[in-house]
Amino acid sequence: MKVLVTGGSGFIGSHVVDKLRDKGVQVRVFDMVMPTFRKDIEFYHGSLLDLEALRMALSGIDAVYHLAAVADVKDVYNAPHYSEQINVRGTINVLEAVRLGNKQRVIYGSTTWVYSDAPVDSVDEETALKAPSHFYSATKVASEYYLQSYGKLYDIPWTILRYGIPYGPRARDGAVVPIFVGKALRGEALTVAGDGSQFRKFVYVEDLAEGNALALMPAAKNRIYNLDGKERVTIKQIAETVGKIVGNVKIESVPGRPGDFGGKEVSSARAKAELGWEPRISFEEGVRRYVAWYKERRATSEAQWAAVDQALKAPATAKA
Ligand SMILES: NC(=O)c1ccc[n+]([C@@H]2O[C@H](COP(=O)([O-])OP(=O)(O)OC[C@H]3O[C@@H](n4cnc5c(N)ncnc54)[C@H](O)[C@@H]3O)[C@@H](O)[C@H]2O)c1
Repeated sequence: MKVLVTGGSGFIGSHVVDKLRDKGVQVRVFDMVMPTFRKDIEFYHGSLLDLEALRMALSGIDAVYHLAAVADVKDVYNAPHYSEQINVRGTINVLEAVRLGNKQRVIYGSTTWVYSDAPVDSVDEETALKAPSHFYSATKVASEYYLQSYGKLYDIPWTILRYGIPYGPRARDGAVVPIFVGKALRGEALTVAGDGSQFRKFVYVEDLAEGNALALMPAAKNRIYNLDGKERVTIKQIAETVGKIVGNVKIESVPGRPGDFGGKEVSSARAKAELGWEPRISFEEGVRRYVAWYKERRATSEAQWAAVDQALKAPATAKA
């Protein structure tokens, strides 16, 4: 069994690659940047906008994980036209490459943000979606619909995974847990808006990767699954957890922001019932692992710069 992972160099994709490899699945990464987290991965360099490259990358592939995207909502907000090309046209290109080839199953990395405008507080995969306010979510909903249309029209099997908010090693620095950890390690105070009771449910990235791997099971064909965390974590708890793990951290309250989003209750019961998936890593353990990774990354970088500095300062040795 060999799978292609688009976006396999990214945060979630690289963990999906690790998990699949652990389970004995062969992997080829399709990305426009080199995988940096491990060197033993077959890599096909290309862009989602290049249909021919995608078609060639599918040679010998049994299933496709499609995770490549403009994934940061701020980037999408700042570049909607470009983001539409990558997130929507890119998905059609993957589907088209599959249609012109061997019609392998496409497992798509979507988001629980597709529920953002549903007029209910608790949602599951049967909840009717409303046109989303955010353009990022609109691109993800469009991709979901294209997958299902290609499924119906061309008999291409699909699976849609709606991820909750992931955190853990390799996360981008601009997310809330990395920001708090970075500040705490620099000795800066953590600021909590209002009473800090706004909650989120986070899903540890290795748990998410496990859910992705399980989605290869035949039972997941033509199904949608929410993969969300279990614990409700308030902003205050995030700050306190980071404080507990890093130590000596000051937490300051600032005035609340009006209309702060309270979060929706997303059910992942279907993934548990059909795939046997449930998140296992507690928020505290996940933050502990993130802090360990963050410190190691910083130490490696400092050691590399120190070595360069030393090499450049050393007197040049005369050549014979
Ligand atoms: N991170 C989150 O909070 C989150 C939450 C829910 C869903 N998702 C979805 O999960 C998927 C992965 O997100 P992530 O956080 O790992 O993002 P990421 O930015 O870390 O990774 C995305 C990868 O896609 C690649 N890519 C971008 N444009 C490309 C192109 N034109 N051709 C080839 N490769 C391209 C990037 O190089 C990168 O390696 C995305 O589809 C995202 O929408 C992310």
